[in-house]
Amino acid sequence: MKPLKKIWMNGRFVNWKDAKIHVLTHGLHYATAIFEGMRCYDTPEGPAIFRMKDHYKRFYQGAKSYQFEINYPMDDLMRATRELIRRNGVKSCYIRPILYVGYSEIGISTEGKPFELSIIPIDFSKYFGKKAESGIKCMVSSWRRISTNILSPHVKASANYLNSALAKREAVNAGYDEAIMLSHDGHVSEGTGENIFVLRDGELVTPPLHDGVLKGITRQTIMELAREMDIPISERSILRDEIYTADEMFLCGTAAEVTPVLSVDRREIGANPGPVTKAIREAFFDVVQGRDERYIKWLDYVNAKPRLSDDTECL
Ligand SMILES: Cc1ncc(COP(=O)(O)O)c(C=O)c1O
Repeated sequence: MKPLKKIWMNGRFVNWKDAKIHVLTHGLHYATAIFEGMRCYDTPEGPAIFRMKDHYKRFYQGAKSYQFEINYPMDDLMRATRELIRRNGVKSCYIRPILYVGYSEIGISTEGKPFELSIIPIDFSKYFGKKAESGIKCMVSSWRRISTNILSPHVKASANYLNSALAKREAVNAGYDEAIMLSHDGHVSEGTGENIFVLRDGELVTPPLHDGVLKGITRQTIMELAREMDIPISERSILRDEIYTADEMFLCGTAAEVTPVLSVDRREIGANPGPVTKAIREAFFDVVQGRDERYIKWLDYVNAKPRLSDDTECL
């Protein structure tokens, strides 16, 4: 990953190398942080952020659930994000807003603590590298996905990713590309950073929110595209053996985009990557890269908005 130029930190654009925090940062000790991950794509009309408002909406809802304070209105963060892309001069990138409890005395309570916010542009393309198109090998993890009475799976909280990191490391140690986590009651939940779709008898199926999945924005996008493409789709609990015998399967998310799954626990998945996966993948890239007029509504063009003057540092 090559460093970019600027990071937005608590209302200021700072140089990449100066974006530092103290070792006593509360978020580092107690995982008191929530974040987002979105992508800016290179489109015929210039760089555009995909579904930025939906990502920030989830960010604000997560903050509300955890009683974390965001000291900026959403419009300011969206303006800052566009400006950040312009100042870094990139056509495409991954964008990571993060809210965390900052430097303060030791102690778990978040009450009265300082909340800090950064927006980091990251130069990265394919999460699964060359396998993003050809497909990946998965295993069912021995680690269960966190459930709603432990930590909210619906919030992109840093703490949740310790659960993901355990499962991912187990999968990588065993020679797989990704882990599939089951919910506390044994239903298929999600990957360590992706939602899951399987195709069975012509129907696309994805686990419901109560099976511990993040309400993925890519997942919602794919559900809408599938309806538009007349592909039957449903949200229902999926059993482990239903993924072993799926006709097709793919993972999706902002980082993973649409990644076909070749096998799970060494059971090969039908035709791979199958025709439905290919069609969804193609439709997805047409949308995010601005080639589908019907979904321009989801693109937030970085250069279409009025420019802030160069000396505006504090938004
Ligand atoms: C655990 C988890 N599930 C699902 C997703 C997919 O969500 P989205 O499509 O909003 O990026 C992500 C990625 O952000 C994730 O980390």
